[in-house]
Amino acid sequence: MSTTRKILVTSALPYANGPIHLGHLVEYIQTDIWVRFQNMRGHDCFYVCADDTHGTPIMLRAEKEGITPEALIARVHGEHTRDFAGFHIAFDNYYSTHSEETRRFAVAIYGKLKANGLIEARAIEQYFDPVRDMFLPDRFIKGECPKCHAKDQYGDSCEVCGATHSPTDLINPYSAISGATPVKKESLHYFFKLGACADFLKRWTRAGHLQPEAANKLDEWLDAGLSDWDISRDAPYFGFEIPDAPGKYFYVWLDAPIGYMGSFKHLCDRVGLDFDAFWSRDSEMELYHFIGKDILYFHALFWPAMLEYSGYRTPSRVFAHGFLTVNGEKMSKSRGTFITAESYLQQGLNPEWLRYYYACKLNGTMEDIDLNLEDFVLRVNSDLVGKFVNIAARTAGFITKRFNGKLTERAYDRASEQFLRTDDGSDDEQGLIELIQDYGLAFAESVKADYEKRDYASAMRSIMVVADRTNKFIDECKPWDLAKDASRSDYLQWVCSVALQMFRLLAIYLKPVLPELTARAEAFLNLTALSWADAKRLLPPGHSIQAYRHLMIRIDGKQVDALLEVNRKTLQPTATPASHSEVRHAERQQHEVQAIGETIGIDDFARIDLRVAKIIRAEPVAGADKLLKLTLDIGSEQRTVFAGIKSAYAPEQLIGRHTVMVANLAPRKMKFGVSEGMVLAAGPGGTDVFLLQPDAGAQPGMRVT
Ligand code: 2FM
Ligand code: ZN
Repeated sequence: MSTTRKILVTSALPYANGPIHLGHLVEYIQTDIWVRFQNMRGHDCFYVCADDTHGTPIMLRAEKEGITPEALIARVHGEHTRDFAGFHIAFDNYYSTHSEETRRFAVAIYGKLKANGLIEARAIEQYFDPVRDMFLPDRFIKGECPKCHAKDQYGDSCEVCGATHSPTDLINPYSAISGATPVKKESLHYFFKLGACADFLKRWTRAGHLQPEAANKLDEWLDAGLSDWDISRDAPYFGFEIPDAPGKYFYVWLDAPIGYMGSFKHLCDRVGLDFDAFWSRDSEMELYHFIGKDILYFHALFWPAMLEYSGYRTPSRVFAHGFLTVNGEKMSKSRGTFITAESYLQQGLNPEWLRYYYACKLNGTMEDIDLNLEDFVLRVNSDLVGKFVNIAARTAGFITKRFNGKLTERAYDRASEQFLRTDDGSDDEQGLIELIQDYGLAFAESVKADYEKRDYASAMRSIMVVADRTNKFIDECKPWDLAKDASRSDYLQWVCSVALQMFRLLAIYLKPVLPELTARAEAFLNLTALSWADAKRLLPPGHSIQAYRHLMIRIDGKQVDALLEVNRKTLQPTATPASHSEVRHAERQQHEVQAIGETIGIDDFARIDLRVAKIIRAEPVAGADKLLKLTLDIGSEQRTVFAGIKSAYAPEQLIGRHTVMVANLAPRKMKFGVSEGMVLAAGPGGTDVFLLQPDAGAQPGMRVT
């Protein structure tokens, strides 16, 4: 006897200052498939999310647009809701962290942490913009890189040499908001004493709540020691003011995960669910957070600690996924691969194509997934149109035209080539079950297990095996030939009925991924909503279907080209101040810095494609004191690379020399153009920079090992 599980599921809350793009959708599609699967299994699974609305970037963005933050987040909420609906992401509630529910939980949790001695106030020194009268987050301070001396670099990392640093290391810093020179100023901040939670976190992270690779990552962080977490920001700030601390606000990452609770509370009040049954310490309900691997730190350390020490239950599991690459590279605005959800839909691409493609790639691990656009077109056309939909397209017409829409009532024994019974419905059905058991039902358990463990890639592979077998069966039986021979009419009806039974079974298996397509299949098959349990049954003998209307069209590669073109056209120069996700990236780097000393495995090293490159041109770059624009020959092609080596080399010294470059570094858009790799140099900087030079005899393009 299976019991009904009560499950609460969340996806990470997207920031309310940018559009949903295909990178975001990896997570929402992954989660939505899982939730739909659980509901199809008959469990009570609720899916909540919200916009993540607080913080400096949102405040400044609103200001730049000349509107209030409230107006900005209301507009973006509308855009996000539209885009998610467009991709069939079926939240039970999509809310906002700027809500009374979230505020109340944030205040209560903070109060409990404080009462438990886990909040500490201390003064820290930070850069302050005297013109704007505000403290500057690291990403809003720019200046000259202390390592390579590139100008206009962010306070946390250098886009030219890749070094990470703190804003106080920058040479000639300036505020990215006003341009003013920032001054150092003290202010009182509130810290969550994460270090005091270390024993709990060591237990929790090893107690089966995380994927093994995530638990390993956590071990590194825990071994490196946990620093206290600064959870306050000074006014002006768009967020919740901290009780008894006028002018101090909760840092956006404090209230963001609390937004999961706020959204669920809002749902509970709306539909009459019991909030405490899900969140109390002794709850037996399940709680799962789907997240990207870059926010593991927040969800596997800060969040469980906040919950544990404020009297709530902790998550059952945190499921982290990898990043999306497009055609093997980071999404890029200049290549047009930074594709927004809106543009995808507006170009008339079917959201279920992407849902299916992502399902084929997602395997429940933290590995990155690649959207290869050529493969996307081929895979969708071949699997969904060529295999799945084709089963119905090839057989339904005969049933409609020849048999008045009715499936067979008769069982046929393929070995003896005899019909077994003519009038005993139950026995007939038994005959079919045996055949279909071999063809497809045998996969029900493994497909179910794959969905449960989020290995959709494996589920899709099994499903396509079933589809292949069914098409092979149709090929062998050749209904189009049978249709020419009146004496084989019964057999024709039987063959087409078997195929449609298989089609229905496949529709059940694919339903979590393709909700719209399967809804149309249900209508065509004259069925009410299929559940997972329906996989154990067949359509009854003599069941009537509707006339077949084509269920899905093929993707035309030109549509994808047009999509890239549209997104390329909307290319915007890198915004200053930085986008919120860049801020997050920077925060992540800070946490990574704590773990320095970490080794990389040989596999990581093997991913770096080092090549011998011949410098065929070297030119100064107007407006850049430190950079040279190099044209490199790597045998198969030429690359343009901007290198911060001007203080050490005159261009003419370089032409004709060989050096070593990282050839598979994703192109980076810099102020002066796109840099397509990186040359390797060593030295402390200034005039002491030494370009690595391979031995004589090395030829352009040779792999450096
Ligand atoms: O990284 C982000 O995009 C955050 N807005 C995610 C927040 S998830 C949760 F903690 F709210
Ligand atoms: Zn630098």
